[in-house]
Amino acid sequence: MTATDTMTRTRRITKISRGQPTSDGAGVKLTRMLGHRGLMDLDPFLMLDQIRSDDSADYMAGFPNHPHRGFETVTIMLDGKMRHGDNKGHSGVIEDGGIQWMTAGRGIVHSETPEQEDGRLWGFQLWVNLPAELKMTEPGYQEFARDEIPVETREGATLRVLAGRSSTGVEGPAKSVSIQPTLIDIVLEPGARLVEQVDPEHTAFIAVYKGAVSSGEGRVSDPDLGVLEDGDTIELKAGEDGASLLLVAGKPINEPVARYGPFVMNTEAELHQAVRDFQAGKF
Ligand code: FE2
Repeated sequence: MTATDTMTRTRRITKISRGQPTSDGAGVKLTRMLGHRGLMDLDPFLMLDQIRSDDSADYMAGFPNHPHRGFETVTIMLDGKMRHGDNKGHSGVIEDGGIQWMTAGRGIVHSETPEQEDGRLWGFQLWVNLPAELKMTEPGYQEFARDEIPVETREGATLRVLAGRSSTGVEGPAKSVSIQPTLIDIVLEPGARLVEQVDPEHTAFIAVYKGAVSSGEGRVSDPDLGVLEDGDTIELKAGEDGASLLLVAGKPINEPVARYGPFVMNTEAELHQAVRDFQAGKF
C-alpha cells in the first residue's frame, strides 16, 4: 500500500432506486431507472430510461415527433437499431454498441423510431442537464459506432468507455458541453471485483441491467440504480451470475431545475417561453 492508498475514500451505495415499469412516446414499454417519484433527479442527471424487449409490440410505436430544450439526451444501444431524424435535417441510425450524445440546447423537434420490425431492442436514454448559460446553445450531435468506443479488459471485467476516462487512462470519445461526464458500460464475470476512481466532486451512480453487484453492504440488482455517496473510489463486486451495468458520473450544475415534459429550464417563466416558442414553430 502506498501513501496515496490511505487517502482514498470509498463511495458507498446510499440509496437504491427501483426501476419503474412505464411507457412513453407512442406507447413504448420501458423501465424508468431515474426521473420517477422515488428519485426525481441526481444533479446533473435528469432521467434514465431502459428499453428492453424481444416483442416488437412493446417498441414499434417509437417516439414520434417531439421537442427538447435545455438539456442533452444520450442514447446508448446494446441490441437493435434506433433511427432518429430532426427538423434541422439531421438523421441517422444508432446501431447496437453505439452512442449518440445530442445537445438539444435551444431546441430541436425529432423522432426516434426502431429500425427493425422484430428481434430484441435494448438500450438506454440518459438526460443530462445544461447550465443556464448553455440552455439556449445551438443544437449539436456526437455519434460513435461500436468500433469507435475503446474497450478495456481487466481480470474478470470488460469496460467500454463511452465518455470520460477510466482509472487506467482509457478515454471515451463522447463529450458533454458542461459536466465532464464519465460513462462506462461494464460487464463483470461472476464474483469479479472492480475498483475505479471517480472525481470526488462528481455525482455518481450505477445502473444495473443484468445480474447484481455489491459494494460494501449495498447490493444493486437488475433493473435498479444505486446512488454512490461522496468519495473518490468505487469498489464493485459482481454476484454469482455476474453483472452488467452503466457507471455514470458528472459534475453537478447546482442551479434551480424547472421541468415540464421535454423542456428543462431554470424557471417557470422560461418553461412558458419554451412552450410558446415550440407552438410558434421557433424550434
Ligand atoms: Fe427525444
